[in-house]
Amino acid sequence: MSDSRPIAPFGRRSVSIVETRSLGLYQVIKVQDDAAPLVRPGQFHMLSTTVGWGGETGGRPWLGRAISFLSTDGAGGIEFLVDGVGPGTHRLSSLKSGDQLDLVGPLGNGFPEVGSSDQTKPCLVAGGIGLAPILALSQRLELDGVEHDLILGFRNAEFAGAARDWPNASVSTDDGSVGEQGTVIAPLTRALDSGSRTVYACGPPLMLEAVRALCDETNTPAWFAMEAPMACGFGACFGCAVETKDGIVRLCVDGPVLSGSVLAGISSTGRVDAQ
Ligand code: FES
Repeated sequence: MSDSRPIAPFGRRSVSIVETRSLGLYQVIKVQDDAAPLVRPGQFHMLSTTVGWGGETGGRPWLGRAISFLSTDGAGGIEFLVDGVGPGTHRLSSLKSGDQLDLVGPLGNGFPEVGSSDQTKPCLVAGGIGLAPILALSQRLELDGVEHDLILGFRNAEFAGAARDWPNASVSTDDGSVGEQGTVIAPLTRALDSGSRTVYACGPPLMLEAVRALCDETNTPAWFAMEAPMACGFGACFGCAVETKDGIVRLCVDGPVLSGSVLAGISSTGRVDAQ
């Protein structure tokens, strides 16, 4: 695991939203965060809104939501991809330009550095909302001139609208309404058959387990950006602890990116198997 990750400035800071837009069925929130260090793809921030964040009629505010960034302009402009599936993410999705967002980050360990002189070609694989860290990594590789595969899987055409800005991606959908019908495994298998690869993946647990098993079977090095409910985001609560071959790790500080070599399996609930 990397020990050179960008470290978050101390404390929570409030930033302005400068733009919002939809990407497929997801919502993109762009903020200007001048206090931020450079972020590494796969790192995350804890996000909450400055006003209207739970606590109605005397209730408690919600916990922040751990959200991976989608892109950065290197000058403090950073985009987050939000899927409004619960009260917190729904509230984040409702934000408009000019609203205030509270954030802590960047947190966790992102993907390891990838160099143009690496012996294996990077193969990036994403499913659903796992798109964000993978597209952030793709953006970084493009800037560095590193050729790579980009394989994106979605449920259907509505979700696959999120792939519109990446015309060179190999897209598959469960119902075949866009691209190849099926999961990411068929295009990934073809990529692995065509030459030496290192896989970088993020997505729902069933997809991650299928990718992990294929990489294990083919002795392909792989890195996985894991998702887990996070309460504090900085290692204090152990709410994100999972057991790996190397022992118990906290995904918020030891991950969320883990090497496939420490994972024996990923259950359908996202739990990591150590045996
Ligand atoms: S979220 Fe609290 S220890 Fe990871």
